[in-house]
Amino acid sequence: MKPPRFLITAGPTHEPIDSVRFIGNRSSGRMGVALAEAAVARGWSVTLLLGPGTAEPSDSAIDVVRFRTCSDLQSLLQAHAPKADVLIMAAAVADYRPKPNLAMSGGKFRRTNAPLVLELEPTPDLLAGISGTRGPDQLFVGFALEPREDLLESAQRKLVKKKVDMIVGNPLATMDSDTVEAMVLFKDGRRADTTGLMTKKTFALWFLDLVANELPRKLPTTEPNAPFALATTAR
Ligand code: CTP
Repeated sequence: MKPPRFLITAGPTHEPIDSVRFIGNRSSGRMGVALAEAAVARGWSVTLLLGPGTAEPSDSAIDVVRFRTCSDLQSLLQAHAPKADVLIMAAAVADYRPKPNLAMSGGKFRRTNAPLVLELEPTPDLLAGISGTRGPDQLFVGFALEPREDLLESAQRKLVKKKVDMIVGNPLATMDSDTVEAMVLFKDGRRADTTGLMTKKTFALWFLDLVANELPRKLPTTEPNAPFALATTAR
């Protein structure tokens, strides 16, 4: 039986201001890397689209492709997503980027005493875009990074807006942290919560069991003494 093909995105984007400066975010890429390592350890095939400034995974069986900007990631998704059984969008993609500006492109913008206004333009929603091209047997997963008080409501909204099968809602403190506390919402209304804080490694094992259960072709899940209980509830 051919192993399922996972396409995982991780890390921040860097949106250039000029040739030496950028707008970025604090994403470390650790969540996506943990998912890639846990998936490849199960014998699944993994391509990891990995953002700038993030550490490479230790397992050389992972096919790592680097991106820098939202636009790079968009091209890579278009090339790789059609071949994937599962897409997991853990990357923290910029929502705005500096508008192309002749004065700033192609060099280093010079300091003056005048105030500087950066004009930003919205980036495309990559996940919502690629979801529109999804085949019937593909499973697409998004992440929603939210203030704790809005977690459920915003994750539900993004599940619908981005047309994904599952969404992982996690609080803002998850970014750049070793641990995560998350709720997973399914498009049919089921929900699964982590039991308190987990390391991203443990989360990856728990979460991939949830994903494996959703695939049209059932896959074996982890060993029975895994350090968590796998249960989903109807909402
Ligand atoms: N995402 C994306 N393209 C973007 C922004 C986000 O594909 N331009 C993806 C992320 O990879 C993640 C999901 O959309 O899987 C949710 O990202 P998040 O930053 O939580 O939401 P936003 O769409 O940016 O919405 P908001 O600004 O309201 O939080």
